[in-house]
Amino acid sequence: MEAILRERLASLSLERKVRLLTGADFWSLHPEPAIGLRRLVVSDGPAGVRGERWDERDPSANVPSPTALAASWDEARVERIGRLLAVEARRKGVDVLLAPTVNLHRSPYGGRHFECFSEDPLLTARIGVAYVRGLQAGGVAATVKHFVANDSETDRWTLDAQVDEQALRERYLAAFEPVVREAGVWAVMAAYNSVNGTTATEHPMLAEVLKDEWGFDGVVMSDWYAARSTEPAANAALDLVMPGPGGPWGGRLVAAVRAGRVPEAVVDDKVLRLLRLAARVGALDRVDPAVPPAPLPDATVAAELRASAAAGFVLVRNADVDGAPVLPLDRSGLRRVAVLGPNAAAARTLGGGSATVFPPYTVSPLDGLRAALGPGVRVDHGQGVRSSDRLPVAPVALLRRPDGTEGVEVRFLAADGTVRGREPRTGGAFTWLSSFGPELPMGEVAAVEVHTRVRVAETGTWLLGGSGLGQLRLTVAGRVAFEVATELPPGADPVEAMMRPPQAWAAVELRAGEEVPAVLRYRPRDLGGFGETEVAVVTFQLNLARQVPDEEELERAVALAAEAEVAVVVVGTTEEVESEGFDRDSLALPGRQDELVRRVAAVNPRTVVVVNSGAPVLLPWAGQVPAVLVAWFPGQEFGNALADVLCGDREPGGRLPTVWPAAEHRHLPSTRPVDGKLIYEESVHLGNSAYDRAGARPAFCFGHGLGYTTWEYLLVTAPPQVEPDGGAVLKVRLHNTGTRAGREVVQVYASRPDSTVERPARWLAGFAAATADPGQEVTVEVPVAGRALAHWDPAAHAWAVEPGSYRLAVGPSYGDRRLTVLLAVK
Ligand code: BGC
Repeated sequence: MEAILRERLASLSLERKVRLLTGADFWSLHPEPAIGLRRLVVSDGPAGVRGERWDERDPSANVPSPTALAASWDEARVERIGRLLAVEARRKGVDVLLAPTVNLHRSPYGGRHFECFSEDPLLTARIGVAYVRGLQAGGVAATVKHFVANDSETDRWTLDAQVDEQALRERYLAAFEPVVREAGVWAVMAAYNSVNGTTATEHPMLAEVLKDEWGFDGVVMSDWYAARSTEPAANAALDLVMPGPGGPWGGRLVAAVRAGRVPEAVVDDKVLRLLRLAARVGALDRVDPAVPPAPLPDATVAAELRASAAAGFVLVRNADVDGAPVLPLDRSGLRRVAVLGPNAAAARTLGGGSATVFPPYTVSPLDGLRAALGPGVRVDHGQGVRSSDRLPVAPVALLRRPDGTEGVEVRFLAADGTVRGREPRTGGAFTWLSSFGPELPMGEVAAVEVHTRVRVAETGTWLLGGSGLGQLRLTVAGRVAFEVATELPPGADPVEAMMRPPQAWAAVELRAGEEVPAVLRYRPRDLGGFGETEVAVVTFQLNLARQVPDEEELERAVALAAEAEVAVVVVGTTEEVESEGFDRDSLALPGRQDELVRRVAAVNPRTVVVVNSGAPVLLPWAGQVPAVLVAWFPGQEFGNALADVLCGDREPGGRLPTVWPAAEHRHLPSTRPVDGKLIYEESVHLGNSAYDRAGARPAFCFGHGLGYTTWEYLLVTAPPQVEPDGGAVLKVRLHNTGTRAGREVVQVYASRPDSTVERPARWLAGFAAATADPGQEVTVEVPVAGRALAHWDPAAHAWAVEPGSYRLAVGPSYGDRRLTVLLAVK
């Protein structure tokens, strides 16, 4: 194949070659028909394949978010999810998925925590490798991102992550290395931030570590608008500037080559890499792609997503009530259940920012439980409290187009008011990138209007509004309700304008069944930060919600809980709280959710709390409720998977991929740069090991999670002595002592108390899953790779293994180590 690629490269002029090295628009690359290269399409990633449109018209299977996938500790499952995503990508004409994200959970305040797998580089890498293998086996490229030390959002365009060499190698790069070396990923995305003083798109690590040391033969693309220079970025081994068509290369790179400042061989290498990528995904004529994927029936997708969501649910607590664990629920004799909380009827299936996809449907916890419990069980619902002070996007069921169908009509207006285009839409959130469609460039549109008729089922006061950066004017029944110019907080990221745009609203009295015409007019303002001059993103929302006094709603929910045999409270965050573009200020559940849980638990001893967040939140009441299930952002099948687990049709399969803190800020690194620098002071002491080092206890340990059976750890054996780079296989004998078949994630933690080098207190060295029937004994083999015992020696700039003995502890979590064995390294 290489010979064919070189031949095609040789026929291109310098200008034609350089043209290929910047995107054609937001989501695609330039074709070059002369050499049989078609247009390549890229798309986010990682919780689905969004495609080229950012709205409900082109729906995508929404898989569990990365924290949920990692919580499964199940590589085979994640590989299947990767294959499913490859099928999705092909269905949507996508060649390159902008995923997985393997940055670490350095701090739970990080806005994109939900989008990364774990605090631990080994677990991150194992899950990342599986994701990439599945995807690429389906002939679709993965793009592992964001290289590197891109672990928080505050000032993400400019921050300089100061990371010592040992932490960089042992933690942050260690998460990428196997994805490159073992999974052979086809693309890497260079981050926005700087690392130790050099911006990532110009960093020497691209050439020295990624390409030379690890042998990466694919394409390094910039994160969106992260390429900042011509020569330094080109010479530093960035291959592709995204998005396009502008940016720092183009004619400037041609001139730099002509002037001898960038060797033409450097350009050739980039083009070759791009052609290799195109060949791999089947975008190059007469070169066969990896494997063409077969389409999957909807029912297969739904079943896989349902099982995968349940496989990631982490049961962190399951106390006895009347002598038996409260979960799984005993369905016999169950007559009345209350399903409460802000996330009960609105399934929060994913986090915010570029990870957004538009699922074809979502199953809320309420819908899932109603379907599973059937007509014999009365299921009451109460929201109780709100998880956001923001007004939600208007539910489409309450909107009618002028022709009477469900939805709205969008009109694009030129500066003189003429209508340049129309779109029938079935959602209340609107985003266009690069253009308003093939025939309508952004520059030709001065305002966008949403025309609809609002029809509600309950008479009362409703809040009708709009969200967007710019000018908003709302007209209700022919009268202007408001006209305002909105602003973002100073220093806000452009993505903040997409995920939580400023809002304005008016209170309107609506009568049940009556149709009231409404028009929202939006004049966009340049978001700033995205690109140099053009407004490349237009994004706004129509919002609508009933105004209900908080206290009344809370009391109603508590009353329902008191009358029910079981109260399921679904608390959580939203994609406005956990998003790209900003970090979290607090780990507390937003709004009065803690109060809701406490008041429900006070009236119902069988209170089950379901936590619907992508990242840790504080659960100060955890000891006062019998069961707490962490569901993460679990994808479109949320409610069905939840019903399966609560009713005992499936075991909750997850184990925490990250420690859960007990309090704000303690033992947690800061995400706020000072004078532009974010110092990784904690060095290699991340996550659970930081608590250990400080002699403190988190709320829940890394690796923790209960199933529906119990296990006894009987015996661990290790080889007597191993070679320094050899690794070892531990054999662990387990006994399923409970009454159900189950799956146990057996974890091995290494420590070396007398080490001469700085080490975490203990670290994950290997894991494997055991399955057994009730009463059965099984032996599981847990591989511990040589690298798991090695350390990075900054003086030698190389990996090294200290000879001597390593203590390997085996158990169901970081905090619960049942057996220990010593491993001697020669
Ligand atoms: C994000 C990337 C994403 C890209 C394209 C950037 O802002 O950091 O993760 O792939 O946008 O949406």
